[in-house]
Amino acid sequence: MSDSIELKKAKKLKGKIIPPPDKSISHRAVILSSLAKGKSIVRNFLRAEDTMSTLNAFRKLGVDIEEKSPPRRPPLARGGWGGEDTSSGDIIIHGKGLHGLKEPEDVIYCGNSGTTMRLLSGVLSGNPFLSVLTGDSSLRSRPMARIINPLRQMGADIMARDNDRYPPIVIRGRKLKAIKYDMPVASAQVKSALLLAGLYADGETEISEPIKSRDHTERMLSSCGVRINIERLKIKIKGGQELKAKDMDVPGDFSSAAFFVAAAMLIPDSDITIKGVGINPTRTGLLDVLKTMGAEIELTNIRDVSGEPVADIYCKTADGLRAVKLGREIMPSLIDEFPILCVLGTQADGVTEIRGAEELRFKESDRIKAMAAEMRKMGVEAEELSDGISIKGNTNLKGASINSYGDHRIAMAFSVAALIAKGKTTINGISSVNISFPGFFEILRRLTR
Ligand code: S3P
Repeated sequence: MSDSIELKKAKKLKGKIIPPPDKSISHRAVILSSLAKGKSIVRNFLRAEDTMSTLNAFRKLGVDIEEKSPPRRPPLARGGWGGEDTSSGDIIIHGKGLHGLKEPEDVIYCGNSGTTMRLLSGVLSGNPFLSVLTGDSSLRSRPMARIINPLRQMGADIMARDNDRYPPIVIRGRKLKAIKYDMPVASAQVKSALLLAGLYADGETEISEPIKSRDHTERMLSSCGVRINIERLKIKIKGGQELKAKDMDVPGDFSSAAFFVAAAMLIPDSDITIKGVGINPTRTGLLDVLKTMGAEIELTNIRDVSGEPVADIYCKTADGLRAVKLGREIMPSLIDEFPILCVLGTQADGVTEIRGAEELRFKESDRIKAMAAEMRKMGVEAEELSDGISIKGNTNLKGASINSYGDHRIAMAFSVAALIAKGKTTINGISSVNISFPGFFEILRRLTR
């Protein structure tokens, strides 16, 4: 089967969609429910490649997980809200308690998922058996010293390839000790790995972040009855606390919804409603930026879903966008929206500059390099900076053959760009969208029809 798609200019984008369930929250739901003792139902779990890596990992660690609804496909025939377009389903997890995991008989394959590998490393460092974690070629080139160093300070017996820099990771779990740790980079994956390891430590672990990153782990730990003390950028957690099994609902993923928000803004004659999207403030920096750029976006039906704020998002074609200059402070709250923000920058009035974003070089691909190179193919004047990018706006995009670098968010961002470009655009490496958003192209096709 071909791994590419041809897209051309869209006349409009209209309709209502339900985005796929949140990827970060789905990972955490499996992890925390597995560590709780007893049965938890996770409703609206994301069945995409990344989150299935976490689910399969916990099966290998001896946790019984039932998958209730089969993937809801095929999507198109029935139309409607589009909830059937996304791969979501309920799962039932029979948690083993903090000390109930068993030694895996084989290497644990984390696929493309940094979240799986880093959070699992925190858990496994405190479990008294041998584990080996590996992944695909992209994951095997992502930095792991950021978790290995602090976990070692906690007493973990953990090592990795190339002087502890890259996966595979080998862990012989044992009793850990609490530490005070100042994180050098803002990373929710590192923070979460240390909080999970902290559950296995003697004493109170104290973690300080340089800038607030997504706080789904903290919220979910609290809702599972773990006492966790949060004071601005400092988080404290005492070891030995058992988690209570708890049913939960996963909200829609803001990072997936963002592609449709952007598409509606950029394509003429468009308006869409995206139902049930998570709007945790540690994730929605893009909304603030879009407002500054001049977008019309409305949030309605704001509610709480299992301890996370959720809303319906309405947005329509923007009537002129202003360029923005963004720096380090806002980066963690829009880290995964960088690719689509670059595409928006090509249509803004002025030069958009995104700085303090060097973390983007260590994602599923080097997203700074990938965006600059591929936008240039579409006629954009884009300059790669060591810590970000500068993009000249008011550009008439022209169709091109785009390399996704096997990165789901690069593939989706350029699919949106293709819808406003003159001529034909080919997006290569589209199977990568299954990492976070199976059904992406079906929804795109339906809304532009
Ligand atoms: C994630 C944290 C972020 C984000 C990633 C998911 C998480 O990574 O980019 O897509 O679920 O904790 P970092 O922690 O490396 O910034």
